[in-house]
Amino acid sequence: MKKKSKLNENKNLQLLVTQAALAQKQAYAPYSQFKVGAALLTNSGKIFSGCNVENASYGGTNCAERTAIFTAVTCEGNFQIKDMVVITSGDKPWPPCGLCRQVIFEFSTEKTMIHIAQNHKGIQKIIKSYTIKELLPEAFGPKDLA
Ligand code: THU
Repeated sequence: MKKKSKLNENKNLQLLVTQAALAQKQAYAPYSQFKVGAALLTNSGKIFSGCNVENASYGGTNCAERTAIFTAVTCEGNFQIKDMVVITSGDKPWPPCGLCRQVIFEFSTEKTMIHIAQNHKGIQKIIKSYTIKELLPEAFGPKDLA
């Protein structure tokens, strides 16, 4: 039998996948047609989500991960990410772009996990999970400015 903490962990991740998929539906992506959703769980147990918001200038586009993080900052001020799920459609999932990795790092700990998930043919599931160090080794961060 699985331990209770493991079951809660799985439930939290399932909830994050659901929230990320709901956010993905809201994506404003008239230029790329590529809808992305993200949801994060803070170390204090709150969930925030976001979608990509494109812009006719292209450069004004905001990725789903950053929308979720900026929403969390707006509501929480400072916080740390326990888990983040990023969901895309298509036959293989997308890992976060370089700019998002840097922004995720700002609110991460060594334990933060980033899960990339796929929303394909009605099935939403996590395909791969990474630490932020795996995604952004030798990162420049808050400690460098201390
Ligand atoms: N996108 C994200 O939302 N997150 C990423 O990490 C990669 C790219 C969005 C931005 C743009 O709206 C679309 O995907 C195509 O690049």
